[in-house]
Amino acid sequence: MDAAFRAQFPVLETCVYLNSNSTGAVPRGVQDVLAGYWETLRTWRDDVWGGWHEGLDRYADGVAAFIGAPAGSVVTDANLSTLLVRVASCFDYRAPRDRVVTTDLEFPTVPFIWNAFRRHGAQPVVVGTGGPRIDQDALEEQIDERTLLVCVTHASFTSGATVDLARLVKHAHSVGAKVVVDAFQSVGIMPLDVTALGVDFLLGGAHKWMCGAGTAFLYVRPDLLPDLTPTATGWQAGDRALTFQPSNGFADGAQRFAGGTPYPLTSLISQVGLDLLAGVGIETIRSHSLRCTQRVIDRAEAAGIPVVSPVGPERGGVVCLDIPDGEAFKYRLAARNMICSWRGYLRIGPHVFNTLDEIDEFMDVLEQEWQGLRG
Ligand SMILES: Cc1ncc(COP(=O)(O)O)c(C=O)c1O
Repeated sequence: MDAAFRAQFPVLETCVYLNSNSTGAVPRGVQDVLAGYWETLRTWRDDVWGGWHEGLDRYADGVAAFIGAPAGSVVTDANLSTLLVRVASCFDYRAPRDRVVTTDLEFPTVPFIWNAFRRHGAQPVVVGTGGPRIDQDALEEQIDERTLLVCVTHASFTSGATVDLARLVKHAHSVGAKVVVDAFQSVGIMPLDVTALGVDFLLGGAHKWMCGAGTAFLYVRPDLLPDLTPTATGWQAGDRALTFQPSNGFADGAQRFAGGTPYPLTSLISQVGLDLLAGVGIETIRSHSLRCTQRVIDRAEAAGIPVVSPVGPERGGVVCLDIPDGEAFKYRLAARNMICSWRGYLRIGPHVFNTLDEIDEFMDVLEQEWQGLRG
């Protein structure tokens, strides 16, 4: 990416930022949004809500377009957990089809929510991977006529290992199960076409690879929508919400997965990053990401540092390294302005605004610290 594009991300002036899998860089255009928001609050009139609803819809529809979905099939809320609970609340968990198949590589909110839904009859089945990779055969073996939902991460938050979604959806649908994808670690860095894939539900959020902040989103397969009535809900999901009269039923489209009064600021902020990424295009983003992560892999392997992530083209946007006492190691890198994260492994997450020179600078420092560690 050229200097003008990089200049959109002020954090890049302060460090080598390879942390998009944790908290993404936010573009400077957000400053104007914040200033505008304050101006709105300072000169408040209630009819501001009209524009705010337009902003919320614009972001939701923008996300939809970005993931290959039609307008009206995406709804936003504060976080992925809230939206996943709304999805979970649509179903009756009755034997023989009461199982929810997940893996042991899920972000902690996934097992937490499905365990909570045991009270409603859900039977979570956790497929053990015994390591950082997802064993797709083992996963699919567990998906049968007893499976109501398959709820899996597209790309693991600890290793970047990915699931083949096309294959998974095909198998799940063949036995009558629906697929819920946690795409927080892939949307914005890997191509996703929910329509082509046929996924039933897909969740993600703005504050990592999407260069936004504070909002999450849910896509629902449009033909399923009319029959889905979440019990975890709120008045904005109703068909007469904005009349302030009691609703008769649920709104059309993904709006039926809304909750209470929405919070527009985070959609307005996140629109800036979405526009930048959409302008670049996801195929360009992905090929740059693969170049950057390949450089990390090559340099780590040459230095003898164990690479945990898949090294083939099926990897996600992050490269994870197995470094002893990795959290302290991360802080040593940070003290030298090399920013990444640690979740059991050191996670290095370059985005489209990073350069190969930055990767080399980062890996030079990492290798020095690694040598220091080994005495
Ligand atoms: C794979 C994955 N899912 C979900 C989340 C977050 O979920 P929530 O928005 O509910 O905090 C994260 C990270 O924050 C994640 O990496």
